[in-house]
Amino acid sequence: AGGENFDMVIFGGVGDLATRKLLPALYYLNRDGHFLSHSRVIACGRSGLAREAFQAHAEQACRRYVRAADLDDSALQSFLQRLDYVRVDAAEKSHFEALAETLNRQDPDRTRVYFLATRPDLFASLCENMSAAGLNTAASRVVLEKPLGTDLASANEINCRVGAVFAEEQIFRIDHYLGKETVQNLMALRFGNALFEPLWRRTNISDVQITVAEQVGVEGRADYYDSTGAMRDMVQNHLLQLLCMFAMEPPCSNEANAVRDEKLKVLRALKPLVGQAALSHTVRGQYRAGAINGQAVPGYLDEDGVATDSSTETYALIKAHVDTWRWAGVPFYLRSGKRLAERRAEIVVNFRPVPLNIFSKDMGSLPVNRMVIRLHPDEGVRLNVLAKQPGPAMRLKPVSLHLDFASTFKVRPLDAYERLLTEVIRGNLTLFMRNDELEAAWRWVDPIIAAWQDSGEPPRSYNAGSWGPSSAVSLLARDGMVWHEEV
Ligand code: BG6
Repeated sequence: AGGENFDMVIFGGVGDLATRKLLPALYYLNRDGHFLSHSRVIACGRSGLAREAFQAHAEQACRRYVRAADLDDSALQSFLQRLDYVRVDAAEKSHFEALAETLNRQDPDRTRVYFLATRPDLFASLCENMSAAGLNTAASRVVLEKPLGTDLASANEINCRVGAVFAEEQIFRIDHYLGKETVQNLMALRFGNALFEPLWRRTNISDVQITVAEQVGVEGRADYYDSTGAMRDMVQNHLLQLLCMFAMEPPCSNEANAVRDEKLKVLRALKPLVGQAALSHTVRGQYRAGAINGQAVPGYLDEDGVATDSSTETYALIKAHVDTWRWAGVPFYLRSGKRLAERRAEIVVNFRPVPLNIFSKDMGSLPVNRMVIRLHPDEGVRLNVLAKQPGPAMRLKPVSLHLDFASTFKVRPLDAYERLLTEVIRGNLTLFMRNDELEAAWRWVDPIIAAWQDSGEPPRSYNAGSWGPSSAVSLLARDGMVWHEEV
């Protein structure tokens, strides 16, 4: 970034996302010299806050969510003095005029970023009211935070109404998983090396496991989460985006539409899971009381704000297939859940066994090669290979070649939002979802959710602190597979 002055407007400016992620990310960008001197951050929200009150809120947010070692007083003061607050109720046209007036006090042609960190049902009316107040200048961009709707129909309506105000090239649909360093490293790994591409296909890979496991529960977000569930909160976006980055064909360039065209093809090639097939290819779970790191935690139904008879899933596993020449027949197991044993996000690639074990013909097959692409903790790539154990006998042992990003590069990794905000300011759409990608993802997800609802079955329960419902293990066992952590 840098280079030019810009204005960033955050709707939902004192909300959860702004407080925990956006303000801290902007603090870092400012500290690291990515803001020119007249750039501003203008928070908008329904409550009437004085500028000073908002600055105090932002200061607290930074003190709480920026690492103490990275917080210095002069950087904090320089950041806080860029902040302003304007009261904007999404339904109140006159409030948008007040916002326009604040914005127009500085050069109105500068880059403007409107970050909609609100509920998705406000996106369309926010954009329409912005347009009526003349806020959509040629140098404006709008950022839409996930979830974009709750199904294909609502996503389509948002896309149409936002698209009537902003051109597709102005619309940045965020999936913060695309801003994670390891996810971009997947591009580097796949397309910067000649080594892997010949292996990256059904002939060499037996199955792929994509896991995003969390230890946290609903974290006080029950009003959002209980009507959303793991499928809409995590699978529809983060896990499918990981799948796309992993499975797409080589794009002809790193340019936004070249990459997004290839991702779209993966989503379109997902084998539909409808009715009975959806039930037999998925597991839906909900945590009951248990313990996380030795600490007792309540079950989902006892969390504040959750309906006592809620059937919302806090865990989802889907066995997916990408029906292309490259991937036909390879199962992709996608799973995500809250209150699981560890916080761990990774893509595990299991390679096929060697055709013949020459070392001990009667002992069956050798352990397979496995690649583990880690998003967290300890970001990096591990490749398990077999090596001879030193000594007189010919004994093979799995060992790992390990690329550990932190110790290899020794720089502070950018938070996903820091990276993505930089890309928005630069105007680079590569790491953002296009309207057709988003709709293709919902088109695949909707029938699965419908099948769950139609079945009338409650989710399977699992203990907080475990790896999910036992049927998650049996689903893989049916295919002769095991989860990575069981190996
Ligand atoms: C968000 C979900 O998109 O991602 C949250 O709404 C989830 O429920 C979070 O906790 C996980 O993100 P990360 O970066 O902590 O893995």
